[in-house]
Amino acid sequence: MASSINFRSVRPVLDSAAPHVFIETYGCQMNVNDSEVVLSILQGAGFTLCSQPEDATLVLINTCAIRDNAEQRILGRLDFYRLLKKKNPRLIVGVLGCMAERLKDSLLEHPAVDLVAGPDAYRDLPRLIGILGSSGSKQINTLLSHEETYADISPVRMDPGGVSAFISIMRGCNNVCSYCVVPYTRGAERSRDPESILREVGEVFDAGYREVTLLGQNVDSYRYGDTGFAQLLARVAQVSPQLRVRFSTSHPKDMKDEVLLTMASYPNICRHIHLPVQSGSNAILEKMGRRHTREWYLERVARIREVMPDCAITTDVIAGFCSETEDDFEDTLDLMRTVRFDAAFMFQYSERPGTKAARHFPDDVPPQAKTERLEKIIALQSEMSLESNRRDLGRCFEVLIEGHSKKSDADLMGRTSQNKACVFPAAGHAIGEYVTVRVLSCTAATLLCEIVD
Ligand code: 5AD
Ligand code: SF4
Repeated sequence: MASSINFRSVRPVLDSAAPHVFIETYGCQMNVNDSEVVLSILQGAGFTLCSQPEDATLVLINTCAIRDNAEQRILGRLDFYRLLKKKNPRLIVGVLGCMAERLKDSLLEHPAVDLVAGPDAYRDLPRLIGILGSSGSKQINTLLSHEETYADISPVRMDPGGVSAFISIMRGCNNVCSYCVVPYTRGAERSRDPESILREVGEVFDAGYREVTLLGQNVDSYRYGDTGFAQLLARVAQVSPQLRVRFSTSHPKDMKDEVLLTMASYPNICRHIHLPVQSGSNAILEKMGRRHTREWYLERVARIREVMPDCAITTDVIAGFCSETEDDFEDTLDLMRTVRFDAAFMFQYSERPGTKAARHFPDDVPPQAKTERLEKIIALQSEMSLESNRRDLGRCFEVLIEGHSKKSDADLMGRTSQNKACVFPAAGHAIGEYVTVRVLSCTAATLLCEIVD
């Protein structure tokens, strides 16, 4: 495992005295936030963030392992870094996150990789980098922890002057979804001290952010002493009425009325629940280990709509899980039609080594059938997203302006409380402001609007 890299000898070739780190992030919002924690730790160790890998002393790739195609993409990226290291042999490349945790030592065999650190090992990065620099030997730490929440670390945002910040309220996952690699890559569930969460929320609000998204694999099971998720939400919402509060992800088996009632009593808690269903078939839900039925899910949806008729509901769906028949798949389409989700993330089942499904159930839906089923659910969802957006035509919404529209700098983009993207002419307004817009027309993905005040 010896490598010729000497970290100390890299310093003199840089323009500035500080070593430079480039961080590349894949996967979920939690990973984005973890990269901000990593940046905070590395800044403490004297690193400066740079925006091009070519300028870096150290490149860190924060990875995702959720599906095989996520991993393949990252392996392709490592080939790019293998070539970059030919031009700059002193470059250090580290792999962080879920793929690091899953593949462990075997990743060190890749010629581009000098360092491997799992999601609970980020405090150890300066030490690992130091040893790598002085000894030249590749380094790894993939220990998972039962306590680590990085509670005392203030993440350094990659978008200073931004509007929306992710805040992790818990780590790990205790669910037993049979398809999912996350409990293995992120370890056991643990909740973060609410005082440290509130401190961070206060800090980002004072820094000008106007929206926080509270992150956890299963926010409904947040618990720290007497504080459950509903109490935490209420305390965060009280930081300022000018601060929007979002959260993700909810689990249908754990989503409590108390949370819905708390949402309803604070207008600044956004009217949006991401409630992954995965499948509409009870036989498949059972096999997936979801611990809820189709009927339970539909009851939770009905309750959300009873408490907050204007609440958007979005979901995740997997097509082609082990043994899924055409009838099971029809049940999924039928559930989607019944609920009329505002948006959905849709995936083909990808077997993950080591999971319960990989050990016990054959991945027996042919690739062609998986592809066709995925195409069908995507087509159905885009009809329903369009229908959902059409219902908003002529209505007015308060939006928080997040940036410029992708297509034109003269237009701004902001989101409704329901998390729908609105595009409208700037008319002298700026990022970070709240404005009220009227919906004039729409696509399945965007509401095209005008400002009304
Ligand atoms: N194959 C396909 N999709 C998966 N997801 C999680 N594991 C897998 C897998 N093995 C999806 C689920 C989850 C989302 C984050 O990713 O829908 O809710
Ligand atoms: Fe996030 Fe799951 Fe991907 Fe890990 S495997 S980065 S937890 S989506």
